[in-house]
Amino acid sequence: MNNDIRTIGVLTSGGDAPGMNAAIRAVVRVSAYHGVRVMGIKRGYNGLLHGEIEEMTSRSVSNTLQRGGTILQTARCLEFKEEENQRRAVEIAKVFGIDGIVVIGGDGSFRGAKALCEHGLPTIALPGTIDNDIDCSEYTVGYDTCLNTVKDAVDKIRDTAASHERCSVIEVMGRAAGYIAIQAGIACGADVILVPESKWSFDEDVLRPILESKSRGKKNSIIVVAEGIGGVIDMAKEIEEKTGIESRATILGHVQRGGSPTVRDRVVASEMGGLAVELLLEGKQNRIVCMKDHKITDVDIAEGLAMKKVLPHQLIELAKKLSV
Ligand code: ADP
Ligand code: F6P
Repeated sequence: MNNDIRTIGVLTSGGDAPGMNAAIRAVVRVSAYHGVRVMGIKRGYNGLLHGEIEEMTSRSVSNTLQRGGTILQTARCLEFKEEENQRRAVEIAKVFGIDGIVVIGGDGSFRGAKALCEHGLPTIALPGTIDNDIDCSEYTVGYDTCLNTVKDAVDKIRDTAASHERCSVIEVMGRAAGYIAIQAGIACGADVILVPESKWSFDEDVLRPILESKSRGKKNSIIVVAEGIGGVIDMAKEIEEKTGIESRATILGHVQRGGSPTVRDRVVASEMGGLAVELLLEGKQNRIVCMKDHKITDVDIAEGLAMKKVLPHQLIELAKKLSV
């Protein structure tokens, strides 16, 4: 154990994700196990810049494991991108006695974590985002809960689409990545899945499968579109005009970010939060805890940020075969 670390700070930043509370809880409890104090920093990097920092005990995380969102609140803090403010944040952390910090968020938040480390505050980043778009990690906390929420919603939309013999075009989140769309689409038996990672054309990839289904007597279909492609309202109108099949668009929106985390998210978040603390106590810094080959491990922040995550081509191909 590295005796330099007596107090650990923890914050959540960027979009919230189900399981962030499980990660915070693990940071607090594993620290308590080692006799290390934890300071909770509110509203992402805002709380660090404005001193919104309070001690957390094992009791402050009771009854939080099953709750969606983040008990520390989260925010996007543009002023933290300025170097002067990053330096000021490190000074403020020192005033509160913080010797190391765990940042839970997406890759934007990780850039902030890297900056903190460069200015002298040991930092560990933990991937928490529904998008599953962190390059160095096979998995991000919140993804599984989000997929299950999308699955429930699309199953419900299918009930009404089938009853009315309609085509439903559904937009799911994911920022520039198509992970939510491809996995939820496969899980829901979507007829068409459009992701930004794969080239597509309206005539070939949307119209043709719907018309072919129609000629076989099938009138209802489900089209899942990643938000990186967007345009679902116009797409539904065009499908209706060109096929004669009544069509409706649904943008699932922020419902995808809420809800009680699944077992997978609770366990992965707990493992990642625990490892983040152990790494700081071993004197490590500037690391991202991540999943590699289904195991929780860690990688250098700069290396992790430089990696390029690729949406498995087999999934895109499989989705096409399954929709025949
Ligand atoms: P996410 O962490 O989910 O990717 P954002 O990209 O919105 O979300 O980033 C969250 C926050 O991380 C930003 O509001 C900002 O405070 C911080 N951040 C993002 N990019 C940088 C950067 N290049 N340098 C320092 N801080 C950053
Ligand atoms: O990164 C998580 C995410 O939900 C993305 O999927 C989406 O593009 C974005 O955040 C939405 O952000 P906001 O909450 O600011 O609307």
